[in-house]
Amino acid sequence: MYRSHSCGELRASDIKKEVTLSGWVQKTRDKGFMIWVDLRDRYGITQLIFDEERTPALVVKKAKTLGREFVIQVKGTVIERESKNQNIPTGEIEILVNELTVLNESIVPPIIIEDQTDDGEDIRMKYRYLDIRRNPVKNSLIFRHQVGMQVRNYLSNEGFIEVETPYLIKSTPEGARDFIVPSRMNEGQFYALPQSPQTFKQLLMVGGMDKYFQIVKCFRDEDLRADRQPEFTQIDCEMAFVEQEDILNIFEGLTRYLLSEIKGVKIGDFPRMTYEDAMRTYGNDKPDIRFGMKFGELNDIAQHKEFNVFNTAELVVGIAVPGGASYTRKEIDKLIDWVKRPQVGALGMVYVKCNEDGTYKSSVDKFYDQDDLAKWAEATGAKAGDLICVLSGPTNKVRAQLSALRMELAERLGLRNPEEFAPLWVVDFPLLEWDEETERYHAMHHPFTSPKPEDIALLDTKPGDVRANAYDLVLNGNEIGGGSIRIHDKETQALMFDHLGFTPEEAKAQFGFLMDAFQYGAPPHGGIAFGFDRLVAILGGQETIRDFIAFPKNNSGRDIMIDAPSNIDSEQLKELNIKLDL
Ligand code: AMO
Repeated sequence: MYRSHSCGELRASDIKKEVTLSGWVQKTRDKGFMIWVDLRDRYGITQLIFDEERTPALVVKKAKTLGREFVIQVKGTVIERESKNQNIPTGEIEILVNELTVLNESIVPPIIIEDQTDDGEDIRMKYRYLDIRRNPVKNSLIFRHQVGMQVRNYLSNEGFIEVETPYLIKSTPEGARDFIVPSRMNEGQFYALPQSPQTFKQLLMVGGMDKYFQIVKCFRDEDLRADRQPEFTQIDCEMAFVEQEDILNIFEGLTRYLLSEIKGVKIGDFPRMTYEDAMRTYGNDKPDIRFGMKFGELNDIAQHKEFNVFNTAELVVGIAVPGGASYTRKEIDKLIDWVKRPQVGALGMVYVKCNEDGTYKSSVDKFYDQDDLAKWAEATGAKAGDLICVLSGPTNKVRAQLSALRMELAERLGLRNPEEFAPLWVVDFPLLEWDEETERYHAMHHPFTSPKPEDIALLDTKPGDVRANAYDLVLNGNEIGGGSIRIHDKETQALMFDHLGFTPEEAKAQFGFLMDAFQYGAPPHGGIAFGFDRLVAILGGQETIRDFIAFPKNNSGRDIMIDAPSNIDSEQLKELNIKLDL
């Protein structure tokens, strides 16, 4: 038996017990006649004591050779500690050791395995198995497990069945690039790894499964960010015989359940906002509604004066920064530089200080008088002491720029409290989105999303105005889930492919299996997928999903621990009939 107890278990009530513990040496302190060792495992740390007077001499000698991260087993007696440590649960006791076995030695670890570490991300990723021994990473993985258990609980109780779908499939069009896997047995042909199980879950509905879920890996070859990994996990769901309302209710219920079980936070009905309102009010389809700073559109009040920058702009829009009137000229210049960074891309920024005495001081005083500026303050909700920041230009660009500024300022002002949770449904997404590069419409969600029946007539005349039965769940400014009611008849699906620029032959070749299935009594159905990594990170009070993934990829999509991707040898390439021309 390697251990009778874990390293986090023993308390004062265990004093005098004979115990066996196994774990890693976190730290040793050698005072000559007395050696203390902090022994660590997943459950905690227990102090060991080797004492010349009470511990056999050979054991003391062996204890002097212990290094950091040695794996050892000890047998001994639980005794009361002289100087107690109130900071850890085992702090009242220690183990007086009389047997020590070194189970495995360790060379000097390249990172510091303590809660706080100065070691850089790269080195920690290369030695991720050591990083996982640290409490913050270990606890994030345990937290992820707990959220996963609660998700399974909730969905199983609601009658959902977890069904696995294949990873070697044909490409699913979710807007990113596919990861491709060559097939040895089918020369010159390839599988794609799923960007999501979308078509399979729809086929499960045709198969009569009624309520499906799966906590499932998805693969997308896209540019990486803090909230994006090339392989990530979804809580993927689909339901038959449902309308949008049914789905929103079930998944609002799931989110409420998780917030309550995991965080002890009770939330009432989730607010809903149309895509159009979200874009107009927050410049963004995933607004963080924990704080105000709503957009005030100023076209009507700021145009037709002498200020040409505004007169020629499609949109003039501002936000009020609480307390910003006290910013110095230098601070405001820095803010202007911030919006002009290529990542944001604004050409400049106009500002108005709303002084405490009720007067206004703006960077465009030449063109606007106090009455004009008072109207700006009203439109942006600015109060005395605030700063109004105004951007102008093409509508979509300006909204994105001001939204970036809004989030940045909220971060700096401490308005994004990670322990406060503000979920929001964004509904009525457009069905189609114009793509400048390819000069054609793309499905905004995916091609299986149904248009709102009342908008179908617009498909031929104003395709960009057609709204979809599509919805996103937003939590604290992050898109944590998205879904839609699907098309479930062959004709509408064919019409949709036609509008997306597929010839009937292309549609048949890529999605014939789905349209065929629709001919055999496909029930009305719809669903949603949550980004599991994102959900876990946000519940854990963070926005970087890497910290909640055991073995994540770095920003270039590499696993630097195993060194992947990597070359494969020429024999393997030959077998796959792949010729590299680098
Ligand atoms: P969608 O593409 O919106 O929908 O994805 C669902 C959710 O998955 C998360 N997500 C990601 N998380 C981490 N890294 C990524 N690269 C990444 N990409 C997406 C987001 C997102 O909201 N099949 C549809 C769902 C449906 O219609 O039912 C789908 O995949 O949190």
